[in-house]
Amino acid sequence: MNATNQSQRTQVAIIGAGPAGLMLSHLLSLSGIDSVVIDVRDRETIEATIRAGILEQGTADLMTSTGVGDRLLDEGQRHEGTYLRSRKESRRIDFAALTGRSVYLYPQHEVLKDLIGARIAAGGDLRFGVHDVEVQGITTDDPKVRFTEPDGTRVELSSAVIAGCDGSQGVCRRAIPKDVRTDYFHAYPHGWFGILTEAPPSSDELIYSHSEHGFALISSRTPTLQRMYFQCDPGEDASTWSDERIWDELRTRVNGNGFELKEGPITQRGVIPMRSYVIDPMSHGRLFLAGDAAHTVPPTGAKGMNLAVADVAVLCQALERYFHQGSTELLDVYGRTVADRVWQAQHFSWWMTSMLHLDHKGDAFDHRRQLGEIDQITGSPIGGAYLADTYTGRPIALTNPDSVVAEALTRTAQRTP
Ligand code: DHB
Repeated sequence: MNATNQSQRTQVAIIGAGPAGLMLSHLLSLSGIDSVVIDVRDRETIEATIRAGILEQGTADLMTSTGVGDRLLDEGQRHEGTYLRSRKESRRIDFAALTGRSVYLYPQHEVLKDLIGARIAAGGDLRFGVHDVEVQGITTDDPKVRFTEPDGTRVELSSAVIAGCDGSQGVCRRAIPKDVRTDYFHAYPHGWFGILTEAPPSSDELIYSHSEHGFALISSRTPTLQRMYFQCDPGEDASTWSDERIWDELRTRVNGNGFELKEGPITQRGVIPMRSYVIDPMSHGRLFLAGDAAHTVPPTGAKGMNLAVADVAVLCQALERYFHQGSTELLDVYGRTVADRVWQAQHFSWWMTSMLHLDHKGDAFDHRRQLGEIDQITGSPIGGAYLADTYTGRPIALTNPDSVVAEALTRTAQRTP
């Protein structure tokens, strides 16, 4: 055995190189606070994993105003509205008119590439492909993260604070003892069958489609690559479906009244589970959870990455107050500060799901009620306002006026007419 042990130190140990961990490391570095980011996955896997693709206005603003938004502005598509489709008819919700805000279609893995590139260019410490990650001493003032580097070196990383950004399957959520936490969980009786297809776009904006055969979502990636989803059984095995069967299912749910999906070869497929989860409290001692480690939303409404970014914007502001002014005042209320947004997003994702998905028991009353609901949402500006407001995202909470986050978002607000 030639394994060695090393002791290292940083200000913030960040577990997980997803949107929460990378954005936190990026924001902290702008404020002169050191961090080390570790992840059990390798860089190629992180940069290639297909996830959702919608950035709220505040997420996009934070990226552009902190220097990681160049490709987003070049390659992302700004969408000022979306379509709700039912009874083979699409009706538009006009985000820009209703809220003055838009969303950006820009895939999550592209955001991660931009953040990884920026951290590496700034000399940031990112460690991919580590294993056997453990967190210890979170209720002491000397918390530690232990992990093994790909070359076998066992590292003991000491820090003032640990940020748990390692998703729903990571070690951080489980490090909060069962007797001090409450787990709120909700399972949905649906899954989403997601595909990538080499075809031109079928629509200029996303289509959320309700139908008597179930929900479908028509999204996009590039002028030649499209992303689509349809409601399926959560236990569905995507590998058994032929391209023809997938297109048949999408056609029956979306096509009609002169509208036809543009079809092409299907290059990727998979089933996404649908569940809601929130942990309370979101911190324990020196461990602060952010993103999917603290909460999971179903995909309807694309809130997952946006919540992760909003969490770490608040966490960064609290850490700045701690490291620059020596006060734990904002860290102490971190969980309570982000919980409001989290629960509003939980409601929104649940509500979009309940409005658009076919009841698995085939309840005829519920189907007719959903049509009434869609008519109400699409029938007047007041009906559409809640969808537009929450989909585009309310502004991120500014808890520390001296923070790089507050400074960046204030600068963006002044630029926007
Ligand atoms: C996408 C995913 C979503 O869950 C959603 O609500 C909108 C878009 C996407 O992958 O493009």
